[in-house]
Amino acid sequence: ACADQVRIIEVGPRDGLQNEKTSIPVETKIELINRLARTGLNTIEAGSFVHPKWVPQMAASDQVLSSILKSPPSSQLPITYQWLLPNSKGLENYFKVMNTSPSAPDGYPTPPPSPKMDDGPALNTSSQDPNAMPATTSGVDSMSTSRTEGGQRHEVSIFMAATESFSKKNTNCSIQESLDRFRPLMAESRKQNYPVRAYISVALGCPFEGAVDPHKVAEIATDLMEMGADEVSVADTTGMGTAPATRKLLQTLKEAGIRNEDIAMHFHDTFGQALINTMVSLDHGIRAFDSAVGGLGGCPYSPGATGNVATEDLVYSLHTLGADTGVDLDEVSRIGDWITGQIGKSNSSSAGKATLAR
Ligand code: HMG
Ligand code: MG
Repeated sequence: ACADQVRIIEVGPRDGLQNEKTSIPVETKIELINRLARTGLNTIEAGSFVHPKWVPQMAASDQVLSSILKSPPSSQLPITYQWLLPNSKGLENYFKVMNTSPSAPDGYPTPPPSPKMDDGPALNTSSQDPNAMPATTSGVDSMSTSRTEGGQRHEVSIFMAATESFSKKNTNCSIQESLDRFRPLMAESRKQNYPVRAYISVALGCPFEGAVDPHKVAEIATDLMEMGADEVSVADTTGMGTAPATRKLLQTLKEAGIRNEDIAMHFHDTFGQALINTMVSLDHGIRAFDSAVGGLGGCPYSPGATGNVATEDLVYSLHTLGADTGVDLDEVSRIGDWITGQIGKSNSSSAGKATLAR
């Protein structure tokens, strides 16, 4: 049996917005985060500390972070905010904001460990089981400790790629150089009580190199976990993943000793396979998934990449499987409609649109 709870990591404010060409006002980004924080979603990737020339849209992430620290969204749950960064310079810029915030003085106490997931009945992905126990995600945090501030938790996300070409395009360095950068970065983050999640991009296919050897992904995941990552987010950057390839990758990760509870899956929906791959992952025992409200998203250095799986679609599917995600589908649907309208895009979430039309 596997744990029955499913964590959703909302990456809309970061992955969802980073690829937009017209500048989105910082107030809109903050409003997006504030609204998402009131839906029952308890983990939000809110911005990134990357080079502003590489990703101009994320340049105001320091203002977004300051705002969250100063006037936290009113939420009944403690919200975990994740901040994406590629190197020590990014960490330094991030710490600058954290440490100059009046509400985040030096000398934090070490927070108590977060509760671990309870074991429970497995989700039934193969048939409708009216007796299936609802699962719940509220308050779940698989990371060991978090830097906490006024009910908020703050975590660091780092990212690298499973192929040399993608690594070079996205972060201007080789796979080995990424790992070398992360070792001190990870040590520093952990020293200061920030848990670290680590993305592995193009894990199910690369726009430059095609098919990717799952053993390469497993090797990188092993290095990252040994270095101290709290979670690896295994990313299908361009939605090339298929059900058999997802199954094979997860099997390979398992054989390499990577535990399901240390994995999140990050599906982009370019070929419309994200939910199918999610089902395969659920069957395998994965219980953490990244998604973006409105189906927004895409990596600027990945030609043809489109949005992440829409949060609305993911939540809807999980509910049909008997999971109580703790997420208010109606409200997330309204937010998806609002934010896509704000940035002049069509809402690409089927479940979101159908929910609003009910
Ligand atoms: P580089 O040009 O090789 O950097 O870029 P460098 O180390 O040679 O430094 C050059 C200058 O940049 C220096 O300044 C540094 O201080 C500065 P100078 O001395 O010339 O004045 N610099 C920085 N400034 C601000 N923030 C930083 C930073 N680092 C150096 N963090 C770099 C290398 C990694 C910085 C660049 O390639 C970069 O920023 N890449 C980010 C690309 C990106 O954000 N992509 C999208 C996010 S990843 C994604 O979407 C995938 C994901 O969703 C999963 C999936 O779906 O696959 C996570
Ligand atoms: Mg992504």
